[in-house]
Amino acid sequence: MKAITVEPKKPGSAQYEDFPEPEENEGSVLVEAVAVGVCGTDVEIVEGKYGWAPPGKTRLVLGHESLGRVIDPGPRSSLKPGDLVVGIVRRPDPVPCPNCAVGEWDMCTNGQYTERGIKEIHGFMSERWRIEPEFAIKVDSSLGILGVLLEPMTVITKALEQILLIGQRAYWEPKTALVTGAGPIGLLAALRLSVRNLQLHVLDRAETGLKPELVRALGATYHAGRVLDLDFSPDVIVECMGVGSVIADSVQKVGAGGIICLTGVGAGGVASRAVADVAAAAVLKNNVIVGSVNANKRHWYRAGQNLANSDREWLSRLITRREKPENFHQALERQPDDVKTIIQFSEV
Ligand code: BGC
Repeated sequence: MKAITVEPKKPGSAQYEDFPEPEENEGSVLVEAVAVGVCGTDVEIVEGKYGWAPPGKTRLVLGHESLGRVIDPGPRSSLKPGDLVVGIVRRPDPVPCPNCAVGEWDMCTNGQYTERGIKEIHGFMSERWRIEPEFAIKVDSSLGILGVLLEPMTVITKALEQILLIGQRAYWEPKTALVTGAGPIGLLAALRLSVRNLQLHVLDRAETGLKPELVRALGATYHAGRVLDLDFSPDVIVECMGVGSVIADSVQKVGAGGIICLTGVGAGGVASRAVADVAAAAVLKNNVIVGSVNANKRHWYRAGQNLANSDREWLSRLITRREKPENFHQALERQPDDVKTIIQFSEV
């Protein structure tokens, strides 16, 4: 079969190549790939900045935002041939740490977890893949290709759960929410926040185009400026850019008792504010700045429900580009109007 593979930490090593069929020990459910979403993590892996091959191997099959069709459900699953499934990304560490022991692998404390297409287990950018039945999430068949948005939706489901849990530390009546970044994660965050009783704002660099349109379609207010220029102090900020200056501005701007949830992974940048000043602002306003990564089964289950209940027409506008596997290089290059690019292996 064909697969998109990479030699992690070796820039320019990604290839669409012949690759052995998935091994039986990768799971008893055999799946035909339909599509795989591309995200910033994939770009980082291809650029040689992130990623780990399986032990004893040099190459890793890329891809963690999956959608596939069951070919063979195997002996111990309730799936049927033809079901649409998405694979959970993370596997618990083998020790296991207390969090992995209770199924909260997203909160793994020893870093020995593995992740499909990212860390030590092959991903989903291959014509066929295998999965353990307990890590295969069946998606509502009426979602069709939109099932490929499930993985990013899980990331947001976890992040918003964290915010709600943290909010319970005191009497909390949030009125305004700000999402920074109108990429797939930011827009899905906005979608989920739009069903709550909040004044919703989304900020991004794009001045025109699809992003402002999608935000306004949710009944939210779009801003193309800086966080510091906003004329209100958000009670909740979901940061989806990973940009240092946006984070520092958010800490300054967030309201008293407000919560900032960081979901973006960035690097470097210029320190625009002294750390002690940022910390003092957080202390004096009782703020919580929380990082959130990955998702466990509870989030996958909820995200599946949330996706199935969302406006399909709005969701379909998030998929702005479909590329063939042989054109994966184009899929990984960001174009100005991109929201979510997917690599499509077969028709849904
Ligand atoms: C994935 C997460 C993963 C994280 C860190 C993200 O792109 O969506 O599942 O935990 O990268 O590897």
